[in-house]
Amino acid sequence: MRAMVATSYGPPEVLQLREWAKPVPKANEVLVRVRTTTVSAGDSRMRSFTVPAFVWLPARLHLGLRRLRNPILGMELAGDVEAVGKDVRRFKAGDRLFASTLQHTFGANAEYKCLPENGALAAMPPNVSYEEAAGLAIGASTALHFLRAADVRPGQRVLVNGASGAVGTFAVQIARHYGAHVTGVCSTGNVDLVKSLGADEVIDYTREDPAASAATRGATFDVVFDAVGKTSLSRWLGTLAPQGRFLNVGLPGDALTRRWYAATTGRHVVGGTASPGREDFDHLAELRAAGRLRTVIDRRYPLEQLVEAHRYVDGGHKRGSVAISVA
Ligand SMILES: NC(=O)c1ccc[n+]([C@@H]2O[C@H](COP(=O)([O-])OP(=O)(O)OC[C@H]3O[C@@H](n4cnc5c(N)ncnc54)[C@H](OP(=O)(O)O)[C@@H]3O)[C@@H](O)[C@H]2O)c1
Repeated sequence: MRAMVATSYGPPEVLQLREWAKPVPKANEVLVRVRTTTVSAGDSRMRSFTVPAFVWLPARLHLGLRRLRNPILGMELAGDVEAVGKDVRRFKAGDRLFASTLQHTFGANAEYKCLPENGALAAMPPNVSYEEAAGLAIGASTALHFLRAADVRPGQRVLVNGASGAVGTFAVQIARHYGAHVTGVCSTGNVDLVKSLGADEVIDYTREDPAASAATRGATFDVVFDAVGKTSLSRWLGTLAPQGRFLNVGLPGDALTRRWYAATTGRHVVGGTASPGREDFDHLAELRAAGRLRTVIDRRYPLEQLVEAHRYVDGGHKRGSVAISVA
């Protein structure tokens, strides 16, 4: 099969089109013919190995010391089941599904991928394109994971920093679905987009400092959902309700720092990595089928132009998802 392979850590040019062994499904796996995959912020970060200093060594040990141990990137896919292992009951050849490969050695930037049938995957909702479905996988499941962890209730006030990104666009929609009052933070060109996703208020961070502006207006948030990773709890303390939660999505941080913040400020800090399961994916498919979610597609590239797609994502300002078609 054809696959885009990261030949080392480094700039987008380390990605090269290669012939690669087509995977064979194990007894509990489905073999998916990938139709659409994406380039996520996480792909860009892994390829360039842009990580905070304190996780450098553990991340290298985990991902590969000199180059990526699993060199095919891509955390999201939508495609057709081509074959199934002998124990698979949930899917059959010809079914359409969408999936996260985050817990399964990545590998979606290729023609084929094997995944366990009970992993983070679900049948595609009806009347949804492959690219819309692929774009749900990481952004929507991450937003769902963190908003559930914050136990968002109707009427609560939620601020989403990075409201125009892959995670942020879904955080706005899911928080609204939970009945929260949502304030989105983004740059000027994305204000209308974020409003169209359901945000009650939008702060343009290029015109005013969002934390200072909220504090000046006396706004208090029950939840600050940071999907950027360039800020810290201390900047938001003045606007976070006494029992409020800071969702450190963009820069998960370490458990010790989170505990220290909680002990010294009384605010809960939620970090770590979302690890969705099949129930979460079934739920996202239902929400999509009911019209409660939409995927924002920014740009489209063919697999062969993955280098260009990475260059764009490296800029840190994509709107929603960057879709990669696999012909
Ligand atoms: N913890 C987890 O499990 C998990 C899972 C998935 C992703 N992540 C992380 O979450 C972060 C977001 O991921 P993503 O896929 O949503 O990224 P993305 O699609 O690249 O979106 C990033 C967004 O950040 C905004 N932004 C950039 N600089 C900003 C600033 N100074 N202030 C406010 N907004 C700013 C951009 O909006 P404008 O263009 O409007 O500036 C852009 O829409 C990444 O760090 C990613 O690694 C974590």
